[in-house]
Amino acid sequence: MSSYVTRKTPGETEWFRNDRFGMFIHWGLYVMPARNEWIKHIECITDEKYDKYFKYFNPDMYDPKDWAKKAKAAGMRYVVLTTKHHEGFCMFDTKYTDYKCTNTQAGRDLVREYVDAFRAEGIRVGFYYSVIDWHHPDFTIDQIHPRRYDKDAFEQNQGRDMKRYAEYMRNQVRELLTNYGKIDILWFDFSYKKDPNYPDWMKGKGKEDWESEELIALARELQPGIIIDNRADIEQDLWTPEQYQMLEWVKHPKTGELVTWEACQTFSGSWGYHRDEASWKSPKMLIDMLINTVCIGGNLLMNVGPTARGYLDYRAEKALEVYADWMKYNSRSIYGCTMAEPEFKAPRGTRLTQSEDGKRLYIHLIEYPYAFLEFEGLGDKIDYAQFLHDGSEILYTVDSVDHFSEAHTEKAGLVAFKLPATQPNTLVPVIEVFLK
Ligand code: GLC
Repeated sequence: MSSYVTRKTPGETEWFRNDRFGMFIHWGLYVMPARNEWIKHIECITDEKYDKYFKYFNPDMYDPKDWAKKAKAAGMRYVVLTTKHHEGFCMFDTKYTDYKCTNTQAGRDLVREYVDAFRAEGIRVGFYYSVIDWHHPDFTIDQIHPRRYDKDAFEQNQGRDMKRYAEYMRNQVRELLTNYGKIDILWFDFSYKKDPNYPDWMKGKGKEDWESEELIALARELQPGIIIDNRADIEQDLWTPEQYQMLEWVKHPKTGELVTWEACQTFSGSWGYHRDEASWKSPKMLIDMLINTVCIGGNLLMNVGPTARGYLDYRAEKALEVYADWMKYNSRSIYGCTMAEPEFKAPRGTRLTQSEDGKRLYIHLIEYPYAFLEFEGLGDKIDYAQFLHDGSEILYTVDSVDHFSEAHTEKAGLVAFKLPATQPNTLVPVIEVFLK
């Protein structure tokens, strides 16, 4: 059994650490301008101008069943959809505002169809909910608000009441966690400290503003096993490094315990659909990112940004196919796996994962080694080895290796795997080692 113990938290996180790989979906009015989900902030767009997107939003090609099929093929076992992003527009039928998808040409509850489609594919369902809201009349203007540079920003804030806004959020979270069946993940986003470059009266916002204690207690009352992230400014079940490749298992900042953590990443430089953004990651990077995360005990939440028409564009589809091609043959080194036990030292250019039951060790050949791979200290533990993608045996020597230099090399515990001189037809070949 794995020797790693993660910090106990209220949410049911066992399935989460087993399933390892999820789909993030950023979808909202911001896909109309199609130049980043923060566009209202970036361009300080007025509500009047932004309402054009509300007026013409018409996802006539929305087919969440197609999204769900592609997620399943890619090996993504859970999904998190933005039900409301910082713009404040609601992708679900809420009683508490008219700023919602049912009042656009979409004319229907988009979250409802999302939940039904992904559940039908056996994929666990999560909701992202932004605590930031640049449309709500009670959300006070601050350092990231689109109205932050208005000359009368301070005056505009008079009469705004964050307590009313906090109640609005509780009402909506009640709707989301009551009306759509079992929800597995609630992903709040995000709290922020004061930026000294802005006037003193512009503060950051955190748990006092969100009334996070009450908000989280409500969520747990409605959905007892739900997994909640740490971005409502109170640590919960999930640590959420973003657009960052961690190099070791995330530890609790105070106790040093291993925590349940999930890296969220994008295919390109934007969370929301961005037509002209060109920094799309290579196929190899996509696979490496998944392996680099699981090999240190983490989950990967990889994001897609559907278009305003409601479909996944060709770039997102190609990226999902990369995962589908690799996971089809290699997912056994991801699901139910975690960081390898400390006794196993990864050879150069490889990453290790190990099954939770300790019986299988996976050697991911991130850099394909020519013809052989030396693995020290494995000799007395290995029983059999094969390529995971095709189940073909891999021969190896124990305690010695012949490379016809001046001497025959004897080294207790050394395993030298004999590999094909050229890389098999899979982006990252994996050696599956059955341990004694
Ligand atoms: C950051 C971005 C936000 C995105 C989130 C995803 O908070 O501001 O746009 O939704 O990351 O984790």
